[in-house]
Amino acid sequence: MIRTFRGFAAGGAALVLMAGFSAAGLAASPSDWSKVPTTTVKLFYPGQSSYQWLTSPGHPGAAIKGFENLACVTCHKGKEEAMGKAIVSGGELEPHPIDGKQAVIDLKVQTAYDSENAYFRFQWKTRNAFPGTAHPHWRFDGKEWKQIGWPRLHKKVWGENQPAIYEDRLSMMVDDGSVDNYAKQGCWLSCHTSMRDMPDVAKGEDVKAHPLLGKGLNKKDVRKYLPSTRTDDDASWDKTKTAEEIADIKASGGFVDLMQWRAHRSQPIGMADDGYVLEYRLTDAGKNIFSKNWDKKKKQPKYMFDEKKVGFKSRTMDQIRDTSQPSSIIAEENAVAFDPNAGWKEGDMIPEYYVSRAMAKGSAADNSNAKGTWENGIWTVVWVRKLDTGNPQDDKILKEGKAYTFGFAVHDDNITTRGHHVSFPMSVGFGAKADIEATKVN
Ligand code: HEC
Repeated sequence: MIRTFRGFAAGGAALVLMAGFSAAGLAASPSDWSKVPTTTVKLFYPGQSSYQWLTSPGHPGAAIKGFENLACVTCHKGKEEAMGKAIVSGGELEPHPIDGKQAVIDLKVQTAYDSENAYFRFQWKTRNAFPGTAHPHWRFDGKEWKQIGWPRLHKKVWGENQPAIYEDRLSMMVDDGSVDNYAKQGCWLSCHTSMRDMPDVAKGEDVKAHPLLGKGLNKKDVRKYLPSTRTDDDASWDKTKTAEEIADIKASGGFVDLMQWRAHRSQPIGMADDGYVLEYRLTDAGKNIFSKNWDKKKKQPKYMFDEKKVGFKSRTMDQIRDTSQPSSIIAEENAVAFDPNAGWKEGDMIPEYYVSRAMAKGSAADNSNAKGTWENGIWTVVWVRKLDTGNPQDDKILKEGKAYTFGFAVHDDNITTRGHHVSFPMSVGFGAKADIEATKVN
């Protein structure tokens, strides 16, 4: 089955869909999706519009009476295009405008469900004439292996002219009503100053010294978190509640589910990752589907490509986007232990991460059926997710008769952090009234 995945760019669409739906309610043919209504969701470029910015004088909405209790769409319905345009071109919310960046991305969303699964089909147009399947690599400089490739908002790219290399992504952030205000403010609850590429980025040494985030979670930067895990009104990154208080919030379901399909780090094994946001953006319990391909002690990659299987040990810069060949290292499929004496030449490149369906375990491995095809400039991602994953401690369990709040995001054209396009929160109903109502299939 994985063999067919490899050749997707060469036209494996039908095969891939069959793999995804062999045991599922919908039949194998993509034409069945034509019976499922399509909603076009306008994703817009949010720049640095953080949770803190929203309540600051910089956001005119904050001065309007009753702002705290209103949904973004009360004031901004249908304004995504205008907002995206205003932000993407630069100004207060975008200190590093990216040439040619789209103001909005139209995300086509279709959803269906049966007694066991939720089915999602997403389509969007990429800015580039190639799919973003490449990700940062280790590059041999004649002596040492050093990182090459960064997301566009990284200073190495806009300030030092280094290459922009980063995977495309499609993300869903989901709540079931347990997180205060998520239905109104969606992803903005999780986006804060102090995070990477945001104003007042927290210093690495301060995060490392922080009792909960540094000493407890072993982090050195700030990533998404929910205001409910902080003690002050402004939800400052360092004013965390205690580990016990946060565990209580988690046990009562006060986290959001965050799942990401990734063109380099999940797509080649037909999966999506599975995480959640609470005091930080964390991976679900178990073993994640991707890991760093780096041996810290030896300062070299752990794996290289298996030449016997794929015909090469490494890639070069002009080969990393060759979609007729694997671009990811799959531990159980095309990898062997790195050999430091394999005659490396300057410019040889090996992916910075490896992926593994075989090693993934537990709740972190729940999204075992998410598959994309890229054709004529358009990604089509079909994603099957169990309604009840059996892991309510870090997943949102979906039930018939209920609606949930979803936030959608696309990372396009070698970008991470805030360089994505996002939706206002919207409801998705499984046999319930909602902005998007999933079609019941048998
Ligand atoms: C009470 C009304 C109101 C609410 C609720 C509201 N806003 Fe606003 N917002 C405004 C007004 C008014 C402006 C300035 C005019 C404009 O851009 O539409 C603005 C501007 C913005 C801008 C800047 C757009 C630009 O053109 O530069 C962003 C981004 C924004 N709001 C995001 C949000 C988000 C996200 C939410 C929900 C968490 C939200 N707003 C909730 C009224 C509101």
